[in-house]
Parts: sequence; C-alpha cells; structure tokens
Amino acid sequence: MAESRCLDVSLIGKKRNGKDDFENDDFVVAKKSVVACNDPAASLAGARHEFGEHGGVNMSIEASATFTVMEPETMRRMFTGELGPDQDFFIYSRHFNPTVLNLGRQMAALEGTEAAYCTASGMSAISTVLMQLCGSGDHVVASRCLYGGTHALLTHFLPRACNITTTFVDVIDLEMVKDAMVEGKTKVLYVESMSNPTLTVANVPELSRIAHEKGVKVVVDNTFAPMVVSPVRLGADVVVHSISKYISGGADIIAGAVCGPESLINSMMDLHQGALMLLGPTMNAKVAFELSERIPHLGLRMKEHCRRALEYAKRMKKLGLKVIYPGLEEHPQHSLLKSMANSEYGFGGILCVDMETEEKANRLMHHLQNYTQFGLMAVSLGYYETLMSCSGSSTSSEMNAEEKELAGISPGLVRMSIGYSGTLDQRWSQFEKALTRMQQEFSNKN
Ligand SMILES: Cc1ncc(COP(=O)(O)O)c(C=O)c1O
Repeated sequence: MAESRCLDVSLIGKKRNGKDDFENDDFVVAKKSVVACNDPAASLAGARHEFGEHGGVNMSIEASATFTVMEPETMRRMFTGELGPDQDFFIYSRHFNPTVLNLGRQMAALEGTEAAYCTASGMSAISTVLMQLCGSGDHVVASRCLYGGTHALLTHFLPRACNITTTFVDVIDLEMVKDAMVEGKTKVLYVESMSNPTLTVANVPELSRIAHEKGVKVVVDNTFAPMVVSPVRLGADVVVHSISKYISGGADIIAGAVCGPESLINSMMDLHQGALMLLGPTMNAKVAFELSERIPHLGLRMKEHCRRALEYAKRMKKLGLKVIYPGLEEHPQHSLLKSMANSEYGFGGILCVDMETEEKANRLMHHLQNYTQFGLMAVSLGYYETLMSCSGSSTSSEMNAEEKELAGISPGLVRMSIGYSGTLDQRWSQFEKALTRMQQEFSNKN
C-alpha cells in the first residue's frame, strides 16, 4: 500500500480579546504537522480534538450565519482571502463555518486527505466536485454501475445544464477505461469503491495509475466502504461521501462530504468560481456537531456490520441462495479487495441476494419485514437495523432496462444493508423462517 500522509492538527485555544491582531497569539492558532499515517482509526485519533468554549469535552456549536470583526479593515482582508479560516477568521456560514470545518477535519483524517468540507447531501458533494473539476465541453469517464442518482446526474443533468458528457465503462476492464479517456478532454474518472448495488470493487491503484498517465483526476465515491477502503491512500485524488449512510449511522440525517487536496477544497469555496460557495449546498452547524459525535464509533460499527454481513453471506450460500458479497472467496474481486482493504474491518456491510424475479424478491422482503422482523423494507444503508430494497425498481430505477442489464442489476436483486441490532443468531433464525415461508408459497403455486 502506498505511503500516505495525514494531517495532525493541534490547537492552542484562546479566545479573541477584542482586537483583530492576527500577529498576536491572543486568538486561536492552529498548528499543522504532517505525519505518515495509513490506518483511518489511527489517523482519526491523531486529528485535532476541538474542546468546547468553556472547556467542554465536546466542541461548541458555532450557530451563527455571520461573524463580526473588530476593525473594518479586517473585513476587506477577509474578502481578499488574506485572512481566512486557518487563522480563525470567518465571513459567513455558506462559506466556511467553524463547526462544519471541524467535521471536515475529521473527514479528512478518515480519508487521509489534506482537507475536506461537508455538504447538505451526498448528491451535492458529487455534483459540486464534478462541476468544479469539469467545465463546458469537458468529458467524464464513469463506471457503468453507479448509484441511480449519480447515473442520472451524468446521463441527463450534466450534459443538459453544463455541456459535460460522460462515457460509461466496465471498470473491471482496464483497457476499456483507458481507451475511453481522451487526453486533454477527459477531466475525471468517476467510480464507486464498491458499486451500488452490484458490489463490484474498483481497482483504485490501477485505475489511478492509468488515469494519471492521461492527466485525469480520479474521484471515488466511498459511501459503501468508509474505514474499509481508503481510496486516496491507494492513489485516487478525491473521495466523495454520502454521510447519510454509514458515517451518520442513524438514518436521520442527509449529508455529504468532499475530501481531497486543500487546493481543491479552497477552489470550491472561491468567492468568484467556487461550486460550493456559489451553488450553496451548505451543511448546518448543528448537523455538523451531531455527525462529529458519531465518527469516533464509526470503526466499531463498521466492524460489526462487516462481521455479520460475512457470516450471513456464508450461511445464505450454504442454503443455496445466489449471494453476492465481496468477502466470499468466489466474488470476482475478493483478492483485489483483500489487497486494498484496511486490516480488521472486513469486506463491507452490504450483501445482495439475487432472487431472479422481482416477485420472489418482493415476497422475501415482505416476510422478512412483516412476518419475522429481520429488517425493514427501505432504501439507504448503514443503519443499525437491516435495510432491504429491490434495487432495480428503487435506487437504480433511474437506469433504463439496457443500462441495468449492462450494470448487472437483475430484476430480483435484493440489496441488504446488514444491521447490528439483536443477536446474530436471533436475526439469522428470522431470515431462515421468512425464506422457508416464501419458498413454500412458491412451491404451492407450481
Ligand atoms: C453510493 C451513493 N452515493 C451517493 C448517494 C447520494 O447521497 P445522498 O442521498 O446523501 O444525497 C447515494 C444515495 O443513496 C449512494 O448510495
């Protein structure tokens, strides 16, 4: 694994004393030091811990839309960029907000990037980063198998609204990816580390190598695999997240993040050209506070999601079900994932069962929810309860029949985000009971 760097930022916290003297140390000073760090847990532990205003163990929430200055001259210097968040100067919360910035520091530590900033949704992180990296006439090469919303953004919205076009490829076929990238015109290679819903694993080191040879930036959606895979540590340039999933873990918040070089994050905040600043998908400071409290136990949650998913995948396979899970040795990218994954987390918390027909998939989900309470029929993932959906008719319904077939999404594919509530065996007996009922129903029919 390539040596990567993480930012270790420590804080000397003193409050401003009524002057805007930035040379004086009477205000907050952030000291940065860069240390080599490959493990996301170690990196998170080394990130700056922000204390509350009164010495609280938790940071305070900066619930202000706007910020005062003591001298009119300071305002001008903030707007020219001479004074900024690094020196604790803030203008307005659609630009940087201190609480959102602190969550961004955690996200940067998690993904091993220089910087990160958080947004109101995963989709806004994805759309703004693509609009920042591409202009009118530019080209994207993207995986055929992506979350339906991202697929629609690339297929319909970006060509219409921004004249940005996309060629979709099979990311496993590296020659196909290489051939699709046009030097000078292709600006971004866009993949999901583990694809939604087919769980195809992208070869991030190789894809990054071939993209960089053509001067193309690699953007990876790591929503399915936080802690498990660290794409930037493997060579990618940018990671995007739907924080709404595992990182939140509560199925109660919609949020996203862009993690990447400081130059990219700053360009996205530019007052004249920044996609985040000018399109404004801002995260609220209260939401940022809530999320920052959940990141410290993300690693523990991921380990349990992954442990249970692997165990259920093995047991489902023994029952003769067609199960797709990258932790199983027969998964086509099992060895690849093993070589890329951070140790001790496992192979992801999502598995798919291909029931072949939508009718069978729907009956199984019905019994799993309404008869045995194994899980809930709902889209999304990363919740403590198991969530199940039939991808073809829900989160991938933006794709047409041909696109779904090319992406390998069969009509009976049930995606399960495995939860950790209850005991593993209690949940397994619920699964078996529901499956038996569904199988009996179908054998009675025939
Ligand atoms: C892989 C992936 N990326 C991005 C998104 C969009 O995230 P959000 O719903 O937070 O906008 C989703 C949503 O389901 C997703 O599954």
